[in-house]
Amino acid sequence: MRLCVIPGDGIGCEVVPVAVGALMRLLPELQVIEAQAGWDCFQRSGEVVPAATLAAMRECGAGLFGAVSSPTRPVEGYRSAILTLRQQLGLAVNLRPVRSWPLVSPRAGIDMLILRENSEGLYVGRESMSGPDKAIAERHISRQASERIAGFAAQVARQRSARRITLVHKANVLPLTCGLFRDSCRQILAEQGLDHLVDERLVDVAALQLVERPDAFDILLTTNLFGDILSDLACYWSGGLGMAPSLNLGEGIALAEPVHGSAPDIAGTGQANPLAALLSAALLLRHHWALPEQAERLESAVAATLESLGSLELGRSTTLTLEREVLRRL
Ligand code: NAD
Ligand code: IPM
Ligand code: MN
Repeated sequence: MRLCVIPGDGIGCEVVPVAVGALMRLLPELQVIEAQAGWDCFQRSGEVVPAATLAAMRECGAGLFGAVSSPTRPVEGYRSAILTLRQQLGLAVNLRPVRSWPLVSPRAGIDMLILRENSEGLYVGRESMSGPDKAIAERHISRQASERIAGFAAQVARQRSARRITLVHKANVLPLTCGLFRDSCRQILAEQGLDHLVDERLVDVAALQLVERPDAFDILLTTNLFGDILSDLACYWSGGLGMAPSLNLGEGIALAEPVHGSAPDIAGTGQANPLAALLSAALLLRHHWALPEQAERLESAVAATLESLGSLELGRSTTLTLEREVLRRL
């Protein structure tokens, strides 16, 4: 079993070693290969995702990514490393579970799964200027990619005995793109005999309902940018970005990644919460390596750690304390 580790920038480099430590304790045979990507890598080498990193990912079939920094103004030759990795490795499905955790969640009993189409939409990278005063971004939606994510939704719906699959779109304004997404998903879910579970919402009202009654959602299935935005919003219920894991999945390949970024405001201060990275490793165990018992052990260690810490202010020893407490429970 092999794991390609890509710490990236900022707190990515602080939380990833914690998750690697946990995986090595759970899987003593695991071989770990470290690879580079991101802003610091670009500054050093002129490459955001070196070919060696893509090769290591392909060779291992499994990876753990921390986070990278990206400027919000165009920089020649630079595009966020995670986008390149998703695109080059065919990681077309993004799983973002949101659930209540002891003490850090504002409410108990929430357990939903956001499934984000990860390969197209507004993320195809086709932005251009049409003259000096007009900018255009293309949004691509294909039947193939929509069917692929819906097929995955059907599979997990069975695994978790889902109560509902909510399709989230904006087909009232974007009837062609969002309409194709919605109709392709509905067709696949009907073919899978799951149409009785399917429901749909416009994305604006879905955002409100995620705040007002989050327990109304079970599987939330949506396009790329809506999934990006709604997953940050919904992770409020998990306890914030430090508690939000994700998994990018392709054909026989997976890359675990906390939802958060490189957090330059706290990088180097010891305050980074490593639990999102640890919970992302649990997703790799459950959904890629098909090791549900080990995933469960890791998630239980996280829950027990949170219970034991009470309202303790962790401050500058957050990363170290949480690492020690989770690892001793594994
Ligand atoms: P961010 O997720 O880095 O941080 C948002 C806020 O949440 C900050 O106040 C940060 O301190 C806090 N936070 C995030 N993760 C935390 C953790 N584990 N523990 C404690 N607090 C945590 O988002 P941002 O500030 O909008 O972006 C910073 C940089 O990260 C940008 O360059 C952005 O492009 C990049 N980014 C990268 C990824 C990725 O690589 N997957 C994801 C999101 C943002
Ligand atoms: C995420 C991030 C990325 C995204 C950025 C860093 C490109 O926000 O994984 O949620 O938008 O997908
Ligand atoms: Mn995001």
